[in-house]
Amino acid sequence: MKKLTHLFERNVAWANEIKEKDPDFFAQLSKQQAPEYLWIGCSDSRVPANQIVALPPGEVFVHRNIANVVVHTDLNCLSVIQFAVDVLKVKHIVVCGHYGCGGIKAAMNNEEHGLIDNWLRHIKDVDRFHTEELDALEHHDRLNRLCELNVLEQAANVCNTSVVQNAWKNGADLSVHAWIYSIKNGLLRDLNLSVSSCKELEEKTA
Ligand code: CO
Repeated sequence: MKKLTHLFERNVAWANEIKEKDPDFFAQLSKQQAPEYLWIGCSDSRVPANQIVALPPGEVFVHRNIANVVVHTDLNCLSVIQFAVDVLKVKHIVVCGHYGCGGIKAAMNNEEHGLIDNWLRHIKDVDRFHTEELDALEHHDRLNRLCELNVLEQAANVCNTSVVQNAWKNGADLSVHAWIYSIKNGLLRDLNLSVSSCKELEEKTA
């Protein structure tokens, strides 16, 4: 039986390091979570939510899937959004994509990848919505622009969920953001689609 002992050793060292700095850290955290942020990002191992924004456990509620897609009928993602908004009362939902995303790359070529092709169809839809702009670009630029456009589309999808729409109608302090991360330099970029109300959504996605 393989037990991944080295990971348990690392876990103990990590927990000890935190307890040295703040002996009450885990005791306090175990009482409740009150994160201000919901992060919807890519599953890519190089894009870990908490580490990128240097926030400790307890500060970010996280949902990740391949290519950070928000599908209107995805019960998993919708449940995360609902719990984050209605119960945890997060103030910000960040959809964060990344340049060079393998999911986006796979959606751009016409090879078969199996079951995941059905998931990647959503990205092919984003490509189709922006064909004119994308067709004018060389392959590398096209990939990176599609990574950006995908984040913008998925952030708009978050805004259009019944959960977020109802939160805004009820006056909730809730903003949706579209960010993109560069694996090459570790830096985030804001794609400037911060939306905080139904009215702003209409203006910004018109
Ligand atoms: Co990715």
